[in-house]
Amino acid sequence: MMDFSGKSVLVTGGASGIGYATAQLFLRSGADVVIADINQAGLASAAEKLATETGGKVLAVPCDSADPDSCTHLIDESVKALGKLDVVCNIAGVLANGPTETFADETWLKVLSVNLNGPFYISKRAIPHLLETKGCIVNVASVAGLVGVPYGAAYSASKAGVIGLTKALATEYSKRGIRVNAICPGHVITPMTAGGANFGPETDMELMTRLFPLTGKGSDPSEMAAAIAFLASDAAVNATGTILTIDGGQTAI
Ligand SMILES: NC(=O)c1ccc[n+]([C@@H]2O[C@H](COP(=O)([O-])OP(=O)(O)OC[C@H]3O[C@@H](n4cnc5c(N)ncnc54)[C@H](O)[C@@H]3O)[C@@H](O)[C@H]2O)c1
Repeated sequence: MMDFSGKSVLVTGGASGIGYATAQLFLRSGADVVIADINQAGLASAAEKLATETGGKVLAVPCDSADPDSCTHLIDESVKALGKLDVVCNIAGVLANGPTETFADETWLKVLSVNLNGPFYISKRAIPHLLETKGCIVNVASVAGLVGVPYGAAYSASKAGVIGLTKALATEYSKRGIRVNAICPGHVITPMTAGGANFGPETDMELMTRLFPLTGKGSDPSEMAAAIAFLASDAAVNATGTILTIDGGQTAI
């Protein structure tokens, strides 16, 4: 197991799914962790469960990552609570699919605001603190940002944007000691995908077999947490601008 003793980690989307699993892994590896989420009730119970389970130092800060002021508050509170920031994981996100000709403009804006503006607002505000610790950022993009997904214009555009943001920040800050990387999950079994992908007429099993040729099933969130922790660790000291795809072979063809 990787050792993050003495490290201060911020995880957005920490109430659920990949964010929860990531916070859990960092806590088990010795880090102090702030989890942030728009779901205040889910956030409070996640923090309680994580503290009981891991015995680690975990604090919950409610945040709407689509709102710049809320992101300023989050970074201020995180630094106040932890004293510094070593790792920022931008994981909060939303999924909305549908035929483009009837896709609501408001939904397009919401998906872009949460999935792309959020990582920008948080990274921008965290960078002055990460410059002090020579810290790093790990973003969660998606295979939908690498390949086209029918009915997923907003989501694909937002995640392609996250990949662009990751690479741009990696080049901008490499000489000043901040590493910036991203993972591209395929299908991960979380509340986000519990209702089915809604892509079309295929059954979930047909879709999974096509999208996940390696195993025919989606990933557990802990697999994504492990990839995020690797990119945040000293083992990845030379990784920046890396886009790490874990998709069961979906984009290998
Ligand atoms: N599950 C998958 O198959 C999959 C695949 C590729 C990428 N992803 C990405 O992984 C990330 C985590 O997704 P997940 O599958 O764990 O889903 P999830 O729904 O379990 O978790 C997402 C979390 O983000 C929070 N959130 C939503 N809007 C927010 C906002 N405005 N401010 C703060 N928090 C907000 C939600 O409350 C929730 O707790 C997302 O960015 C998602 O796009 C997921």
